Amino acid sequence: MIIAIDGPAASGKGTLARRLAAHFGLPHLDTGLLYRATARALIDAGERLDDSVRAEAAARGLALTDFDEDKLRGREMGEAASVVAAIPAVRKALLEMQQTFAARPGGAVLDGRDIGTVICPNAQAKIFVTASPETRANRRALELAGRGEKVDYAAVLEDIRKRDERDSSRSSAPLVIAQDAVVLDTSALDIAAAFKAALAIVDDKRG
Ligand code: CDP
Repeated sequence: MIIAIDGPAASGKGTLARRLAAHFGLPHLDTGLLYRATARALIDAGERLDDSVRAEAAARGLALTDFDEDKLRGREMGEAASVVAAIPAVRKALLEMQQTFAARPGGAVLDGRDIGTVICPNAQAKIFVTASPETRANRRALELAGRGEKVDYAAVLEDIRKRDERDSSRSSAPLVIAQDAVVLDTSALDIAAAFKAALAIVDDKRG
């Protein structure tokens, strides 16, 4: 069974994807890490984020393992990731890697922006996780503060709005709700309630 989880920044899709994967004993791929790691490789090499030739090479050079999440989860890297994620050659370079992961025997859980639309259009269960920008900014500010990053709620909210706009308006695999996805708004749900709702959606799809 392939479970595709998509949604905007800080919607809670990562937490839900991890929990669903643990529940069903499936491997999980946080595809945002691929874009974050591509951006990180460019920054470390002193390259521009919008250099599509270098960005494609950086994406092709990624290994699916050994992500240093500590270096990738920061606020700056989320922003940088959404710049490289808008480059069609980068998306193409990462497509096969994601589809190979999804094709594991037994299935997989993937979360991102285009899993249900582009990477796994045939996924059995597709959930589009969302929440209001204010709720998402609150969650992200708490998460960043927990990581020891200095945060300003207004700046985080501004980041979220800017990323929503960039991710939704790009020409290559924009953030859109797949036709057959179920929308799960977690604005008023805590993690346990959101997980329960997500599980009900998956169970329903499995018949
Ligand atoms: O955790 P958060 O939602 O803030 O970020 P993420 O899922 O790690 O994604 C970071 C950025 O990578 C997003 O803003 C997207 O621009 C891009 N991304 C994408 O384009 N496609 C994906 N499947 C996953 C992430």
